[in-house]
Amino acid sequence: MLNQDQTPLLDAIKACMAKPHTPFYTPGHKQGQGILPKLADLLGEAVFRADLTELAELDSLFSPQGVIQQAQALAAAAFGATQTWFLVNGSTCGIEAAILATCGTGDKIILPRNVHSAAIAGLILSGAMPIFIHPEYDSVFDIAHSITPNAVEIALQQHPDAKAVLTVYPTYYGVCGNLAAIAKITHQYNIPLLVDEAHGAHFTFHSELPTPALAVGADLTVQSIHKVLGAMTQASMLHVQGKRIDSDRISKALQLLQSTSPSYILLASLDAARQQMAVDGKKLMSRTLELADVARTKISQIPGLAILQQQLSPGFVELDKTRLTVNVTGLGLTGFEAEEILDEKLSVTAEFASLQNLTFIISLGNTASDIEQLVQSCNILAEKYCRNKVIVNPQLGQNFREYSMQISPREAFFAVGETLPIEQTSDRICAEIICPYPPGIPVLMPGEIITTAALAYLQQIQAMGGMISGCADSSLRTLKVVKNWGAVPST
Ligand SMILES: Cc1ncc(COP(=O)(O)O)c(C=O)c1O
Repeated sequence: MLNQDQTPLLDAIKACMAKPHTPFYTPGHKQGQGILPKLADLLGEAVFRADLTELAELDSLFSPQGVIQQAQALAAAAFGATQTWFLVNGSTCGIEAAILATCGTGDKIILPRNVHSAAIAGLILSGAMPIFIHPEYDSVFDIAHSITPNAVEIALQQHPDAKAVLTVYPTYYGVCGNLAAIAKITHQYNIPLLVDEAHGAHFTFHSELPTPALAVGADLTVQSIHKVLGAMTQASMLHVQGKRIDSDRISKALQLLQSTSPSYILLASLDAARQQMAVDGKKLMSRTLELADVARTKISQIPGLAILQQQLSPGFVELDKTRLTVNVTGLGLTGFEAEEILDEKLSVTAEFASLQNLTFIISLGNTASDIEQLVQSCNILAEKYCRNKVIVNPQLGQNFREYSMQISPREAFFAVGETLPIEQTSDRICAEIICPYPPGIPVLMPGEIITTAALAYLQQIQAMGGMISGCADSSLRTLKVVKNWGAVPST
């Protein structure tokens, strides 16, 4: 059994920083000596002394045999994996690698329509053809939840040649579907279940959190350690268990997708975050759950606000209670307006806003006074800013129901495109990933037929203050479509 108190990578960096030597290697700032003093004032000197390169003592990310290998082995043991890879380009590169390692050009992959844009990037890179499943839709909160085991079963019966199933667990809203049943069905076809667990890295460490994906049979899972635990932004992990995934293909795919100069600051933060959770995770998560519970109870009593609560449906079997989604339409405000008021007038900043909701991440870094401030600000929001106005609900989930894929995302991405005024793009094939960000779930993606409902939704999001990313013209006056594919009848 490994000693989880250890931090091999962190210790090796510390030793290198202390070792007297004259640096003739990258990075150019030479442990901070060449840095702009203003930047050093902002960040402190230690961060530059720790910003080292792949020195002999520091191992190599792409063929780890020393301290990185030891740190990854400790992480695998702590998270319940057979093998773990440290990622310096976020879960984005992990999800792309998962698809590249399991699907080639033309191969089918089954996945929910509400996947993160990282999965769409994986489809473009691999040339895989998506078989989309509609997630369950919550019309009260206007949120897409998980796909159901039944829908996965039907998709596999129709496409028994699919090479993998990919699912999102939990969603951005902390909603978990029945992953155990999805794993069982997927494995009956002897293909791997890949999980985007970007928001679930804390699940392993407390029994009152949803069950982690590996514990219910996922073959591969990708976790943004930086989103919910103590790692630096971009620091994530990819875990694998069992024999359905070819480790060598994962390593090769990650070499394509990651920098050959990985940041040791990010890597060290993964080593530290793992140690912290392996040693103190239960205590830290108990405290986080208690804080979240206080926030949930108090905010749910505020007139005009409604909280996303645990439900029981095939697409929603567990809720991560540390993720707080508050519907503000009872106040006559959009989520975007409420977000702005909270941020600018009350100094409370949410993770993201949608038309109807605000979502807050409560994590090990929050304190009791943060929660007090959140509750107090929600009270002020309800008392002072409530107005009698009906919020039009454009029903995001309904747009997802109308999708139709005409050519693969890769074909559409590389096809000759043309830029047209948005009003001329209906029924054309989209050539861009177009999504409100966050949460980064595409409303339109390359290869998909552009529907009037999707266009209306995007324009409404924008008119109400939401951000649309991914398209060349962020004003949404024009869109890029595939050239020479005339109007196609909608299905
Ligand atoms: C569901 C989901 N998957 C994947 C990602 C990408 O993760 P990262 O930011 O670590 O690259 C995100 C980011 O927001 C996400 O919400």
